Amino acid sequence: MSHPLHAIDQGTGSVLLLLHGFPLDHTMWRNQTETLATKFRVVAPDLRGFGKSSIEPIAAKTGIAIADYADDVAAVLDNLGVREPVVVCGLSMGGYVAWQFFERHRDRVRALVQCDTKSVADTPKARETRYQMAESVEGWGAAHVATLMAPKMLAATTLSSNTKLVDEVTDIISRTDPVAIAAAQRGMAHRDDKSELLGAIDVPTLYMVGEEDAISPPAEMRAMADATPDAEYVEIPNSGHLSPMENPHAVNHAIDDFIARRL
Ligand code: MLT
Repeated sequence: MSHPLHAIDQGTGSVLLLLHGFPLDHTMWRNQTETLATKFRVVAPDLRGFGKSSIEPIAAKTGIAIADYADDVAAVLDNLGVREPVVVCGLSMGGYVAWQFFERHRDRVRALVQCDTKSVADTPKARETRYQMAESVEGWGAAHVATLMAPKMLAATTLSSNTKLVDEVTDIISRTDPVAIAAAQRGMAHRDDKSELLGAIDVPTLYMVGEEDAISPPAEMRAMADATPDAEYVEIPNSGHLSPMENPHAVNHAIDDFIARRL
């Protein structure tokens, strides 16, 4: 059953749905919302348990399936009265949700923008690491997760020269509910491989990746674009895994340009 989410809804025009990464919230799209809501209606939810969206404590043990996050997002659009197909833009875990949203709510998708994400499922080792975090995060606290994850998410140049952004990412992760972290780790560990889906995507799709993304590397994202019938591929300079935060100007331009040409 879907779960009510907190979401921002700003601007008018074609709907651009922004799905955040893990373990972040809608504020990771701050720069996109400010700029792109002058041209589009930007809807940016906090996935279940993240940001201002609530979660049942039991979810730390049961996990939340990626399909359930996708259905929550469909309910957000229903609640906002959005009936027309939208541009779905997801980053990393948000991209996993976007694949499921495409499969489960196909008639609601006009185009896809997949940022710094993957189509493949986890390796057994990656799955094990997720279970370890799911088991331990309540004891550790989210601030420890921030110290583990932030350095891997950001490009070397961001880490050495943009303390403000490093602090912002650290703060977002540190204030995330450990229940949401555990639930999402279990959900991601169980997610299906979507490689077969790529060839069946029948909407314009933009793949976008930070040049220094070590989590979803450019070569992997380029291969996803090659496997998708109507795809474009853009690398974002001076960025790691969080390209919309690390180089917002280039990301905003890429999204705006893609929508202007393809919709
Ligand atoms: C994210 O940024 O959402 C994460 O890297 C997703 C993941 O852990 O696979």
